[in-house]
Amino acid sequence: MKSLITIDGPAGAGKSTVAHLLAKKLSYLYIDTGAMYRAITYYLIKQGIDYGDSEALKQALEKIDLHFQVIDGASVIFLNGKRCDEEIRQTMVNQHVSPVAKIVAVRLFLKKKQRDLAQSTSSVTEGRDIGTVVLPDADLKIFLTARPEIRAQRRWKELKEKGIDISYSDVLGNVIERDTIDSTRSEAPLRPADDALMVDTSDMSIEEVVNFLYQKAVDDE
Ligand code: C5P
Repeated sequence: MKSLITIDGPAGAGKSTVAHLLAKKLSYLYIDTGAMYRAITYYLIKQGIDYGDSEALKQALEKIDLHFQVIDGASVIFLNGKRCDEEIRQTMVNQHVSPVAKIVAVRLFLKKKQRDLAQSTSSVTEGRDIGTVVLPDADLKIFLTARPEIRAQRRWKELKEKGIDISYSDVLGNVIERDTIDSTRSEAPLRPADDALMVDTSDMSIEEVVNFLYQKAVDDE
C-alpha cells in the first residue's frame, strides 16, 4: 500500500476530481495545492498588492494563513480563517495565478506547507511540481494529461455548471496560456518526474481513471 501519492499535470487533465475521489476511496487526506496558489493570488488581488514588488509581497505572505477543513466530505480551503473556495475560482484569479505561481518566494512559502501537510498522514497531493519538487520521495507519482481541447471542454463545462458565463474559446485560451507559463518557468516547471506513471485521460471516464490508480496504490509492487 502506497501512503504518499502525488498527482501532477496540466490544467483540466482531471487532477482535482481524480485526486479527491482517489483519496476518498483510500481514506487518505486530499491536498489541492492549486487551491493554495489560488488563495494567495486572491489575497494579493483583494488587498491591491503589487506582487512585482518583492518587499510588499514578502510582507503580504507573512499575513497569510492557509488551512484545509473537510466539509461534507470535501476538502475546503480557508484563507485567514475565512472559507474562500468559491472566490478562488473567479476569472480574475485564473488570469493572475500563473504569474504569481512563478515567483520563487511564493513557491518556497507553499513548498514547506505542502510537505508538512502531506507527510503528516497518508495523503494524495495534487499540483504541478509535487512529484518533482515538493515530494520527490513519494511512493506513487502520477502524471495526468489529456488533449488541450478536451481539457478546455471539461473546464468550460465545470464553469458553466457553476453559473460562470465564459466562452469556450476564452477557456481554451486560458488553459493554453497557463500551461505555457507553468511549463516554461525556471522555478519548478510543470513536468513529469522521471519515475512518474503517465496517464492520458482524454478517452477515459473519471471512474476508469480512479479505479486504475486505486489498483496502482494498493498493489505491493
Ligand atoms: O490546479 P489549478 O488549476 O487550480 O492551479 C492553478 C495554478 O496554480 C496553475 O495554473 C499553476 O500556475 C499554479 N500551480 C503551481 N504549482 C502547483 C499547483 C498549482 O504552480 N503545485
